[in-house]
Amino acid sequence: MAIMNIDENLEAILEKIDTNETVPESEPERQYYYIKLLRKLISDRSTALGRPLTACVQTFGCQMNAKDSEKLLGILTAAGFEETESEAADFVLYNTCTVRDNANQRVYGRLGYLNALKKENRNMIIAICGCMTQEPSVVEKLKKSYRFIDIIFGTHNIFQLAELLYERMTADEMVVNVWDGTDKIVEELPAVRKYPFKSGVNIMYGCNNFCTYCIVPYVRGRERSRRPEEIINEIKRLVGEGVKEVMLLGQNVNSYGKTLDEPVSFAQLLKMVEQIEGLERIRFMTSHPKDLSDELIEVMKNSKKICRHLHLPLQSGSSRILKAMNRRYDKEKYLALARKIKSEIPDISLTTDIIVGFPGETEEDFLETMDVVEKVRYDSAFTFIYSKRTGTPAAAMEQVPEEDVKDRFNRLLDRVQKISAEVCTKDTGKVMSALVEGVDSHDSSMVTGRLSNNIMVHFKGDASLIGEIVDVRLDEAKGFYYIGSRV
Ligand code: 5AD
Ligand code: SF4
Repeated sequence: MAIMNIDENLEAILEKIDTNETVPESEPERQYYYIKLLRKLISDRSTALGRPLTACVQTFGCQMNAKDSEKLLGILTAAGFEETESEAADFVLYNTCTVRDNANQRVYGRLGYLNALKKENRNMIIAICGCMTQEPSVVEKLKKSYRFIDIIFGTHNIFQLAELLYERMTADEMVVNVWDGTDKIVEELPAVRKYPFKSGVNIMYGCNNFCTYCIVPYVRGRERSRRPEEIINEIKRLVGEGVKEVMLLGQNVNSYGKTLDEPVSFAQLLKMVEQIEGLERIRFMTSHPKDLSDELIEVMKNSKKICRHLHLPLQSGSSRILKAMNRRYDKEKYLALARKIKSEIPDISLTTDIIVGFPGETEEDFLETMDVVEKVRYDSAFTFIYSKRTGTPAAAMEQVPEEDVKDRFNRLLDRVQKISAEVCTKDTGKVMSALVEGVDSHDSSMVTGRLSNNIMVHFKGDASLIGEIVDVRLDEAKGFYYIGSRV
């Protein structure tokens, strides 16, 4: 089910625009102008074809990209496209990720498939945006070897989709428009939300940390925080539309607000969000351990709405490797922080990201990582094989042989999975509240709900429960989820 954010406003805004006048310079007015121009183009094409034009947006990567895709789809539907999940569409947009090389390879592979589809629909328009296209070498490769792509744009100008699409539809050449960076935050464009009952909310963009393995600061630019009033207003509007749970999004939410004219801490922002009437649950992603304050722990502890889940990326348990990664904490500091959080908020679920095979990692370093895993006992951990990203400092460092990395990766994965299966039995028999997200994909007599600690529970129920928060007894632990029953 898709939800349009500023639906009724949209028609009123478009009504006022006169496309015979010159193009507005200011945003978002300029994009609304192009949306109106596109509407005419698309409706003419649709009349000629005798069917609606369809658009498909494919998202790769993280929650930030998922949020961006909702905005992209909002622009497309406002312009007159019908949303489809099939890539055999009139407009296909890949919103890409480049954090690890396998994400890039997947995109290149799928682009080949799109080319085959385009041969069957000569009017098909193919566009690519997101983190991959912020890399000049990728754009060069696409321009040279993927000539069938129509539009290439980046992470900083996603709000320009209507303008770029109009340009492509009125001239017969590839449109390439990627910005190096921006201090502009253009919001207030239409969006199509994937879930009626929960939504991501960007609180900041970019990252200033420059962890030596990570490409994100190069492709997402410097940290920019949105003003608290804007965030609060957006959440209030979402709540008015039926949203019960928000996920505050940023690469490093713990440094939120530091660069604002009137600085606000992340903990203070959380307190303001907590006040919003009708909002029931608050999540956030991602926290950097170096910036996680006592104030934040205190706010979480006293909150009725902040979910009992903290994602706290470890990356490595070796202080030597952490230094080489430029993480600005060491093993002891991380362990002390994890201990403090668990003692202050005993029912919290801790999850993490771990990289195996960072340049120079020895067996001893790896065992330090395993030691942290044993001590913290994560509810779940995302484990990654280090991927060399061109342009990052770590790419120039001495790489670890592949066999060693694979062996360590398998040992780590085995351990984190066993531990998380053990940790996930601890609440068996308890009654907890779950936000029902959908009908169970394997059994249509069941629904799937998310607990405050981010673990899923499956229980008897039907689609009428979707979006409701209900009490469920956790009858049986199944490793990474529970089977429960409504009480
Ligand atoms: N190689 C492997 N994993 C990486 N991550 C970021 N950059 C790399 C890389 N070059 C992981 C980190 C981060 C997560 C989103 O992706 O663990 O927390
Ligand atoms: Fe990358 Fe580090 Fe920024 Fe996270 S904090 S996005 S890992 S540079």
